[in-house]
Amino acid sequence: MSSEQTARQQQDRETARVGIRPKRLGLLVGGSGLIGGTIVHYFKKNVPDVELMAPNSKKLSLREPDDIRRYCDKYQPDFIINSAIAAINSDAQLAYEVNYLGAIHLAEIASKRNIPFIHVSSAAVMPPGRDLDESHRLPLTARMSNYAKSKLMAELTLEHMGRHGGLDYTILRLAVVYGKHDHKIQGFHRLLFTIADRSMPVLLTSRGVFHSYSHSKKLPPLIHYMLEHRDEFSGRVYNVVDREPVELAELILTIRAYLDLSTPRRIFVPYPLARTGRTVIFWILRRMSRIGIDARLPAELMFMENFYKTQTLSPARLLNSSYRDADEDVTVISFLPELIEYYITRWQHFRLLSTFNEEFYRPDNGLEEFRQAPDRLLEKIHRNGYTV
Ligand SMILES: NC(=O)c1ccc[n+]([C@@H]2O[C@H](COP(=O)([O-])OP(=O)(O)OC[C@H]3O[C@@H](n4cnc5c(N)ncnc54)[C@H](OP(=O)(O)O)[C@@H]3O)[C@@H](O)[C@H]2O)c1
Repeated sequence: MSSEQTARQQQDRETARVGIRPKRLGLLVGGSGLIGGTIVHYFKKNVPDVELMAPNSKKLSLREPDDIRRYCDKYQPDFIINSAIAAINSDAQLAYEVNYLGAIHLAEIASKRNIPFIHVSSAAVMPPGRDLDESHRLPLTARMSNYAKSKLMAELTLEHMGRHGGLDYTILRLAVVYGKHDHKIQGFHRLLFTIADRSMPVLLTSRGVFHSYSHSKKLPPLIHYMLEHRDEFSGRVYNVVDREPVELAELILTIRAYLDLSTPRRIFVPYPLARTGRTVIFWILRRMSRIGIDARLPAELMFMENFYKTQTLSPARLLNSSYRDADEDVTVISFLPELIEYYITRWQHFRLLSTFNEEFYRPDNGLEEFRQAPDRLLEKIHRNGYTV
């Protein structure tokens, strides 16, 4: 028995002796990502009886099954959460090994240890359509993207393991995710970036195209609740989305209005034209790489077709469960001002925005005087008792 196991047993005996519920140990894989980071933060702040371990991929890679086994033997987690994912445009090998095999290795360990396994999945496994419930899945084909294929296969195998091996799992399907701390600027935040950077002159969507949105902050309390109520949530898939879908054009134009920009213009580019434009740009970029200029299109453009297709998920199953979302009224539209302030400030700090008007979101905290008249600022702060 390892020293960690002995120490844990001693700690459990001691807490049992004094009548305190022993601290549970959770393993989260993907803790440095957008979703995982929010889960880590929530458990640290709100769940004192859980210690959530979140090793990064250097310490615990889903591509190394022996590492996963060794890690779990050493720490003996009481539950596992998987929010890890290979980059969305990964090749087949990475997508297969991380998104599929990695998830299944974790599930096997959870099954053997008889502990809950919470797996984060994606609406990419679902077809286009309106008000899709959890039973909707794309047929598995060789031609789907590596991302969708690996996520779909993971869902199917987890269900199989639940039916045949008694795995205690819950699958949480997210749609377009919005939230703070997306440091890789992906998905919805890439769209926000593109608008703020004024690199979207016209609308790459059609009128009446709706999508569902998932708030990253709503997920951790739900996971916490589900871990406490396994009888109700075990062996099931849940769409985790805001109650109302949002039209993509409305969302883009609302962002534009908040940023007080004149682009994108209210011109809807038809899909065939947008697709041709993308092909031409790919071709130009390939040629440029031959003369040493490395430029890439955002990975999201691979999924440009989705900008033109409605996909809305039904939240009914979760709404009909015993779980109550404390932030039910928060939507991607109501959260936009906070989100814009957070990201624009961040992108300006890192000088990522090439054309953005710097007057926006400049905090009124003496920054201008710090730049222009530091002596005046210093004098003011000293006079006012260290407040600006
Ligand atoms: N973001 C969205 O819009 C969206 C939409 C629908 C569904 N989802 C789902 O939400 C989940 C989380 O996505 P996200 O947006 O948080 O992703 P993310 O920000 O890209 O984070 C990915 C995480 O996976 C980890 N990871 C990558 N390769 C790994 C490996 N070989 N072994 C262990 N960990 C590895 C990364 O760790 P390192 O940094 O240490 O490499 C990182 O913590 C995924 O299941 C995704 O399908 C996301």
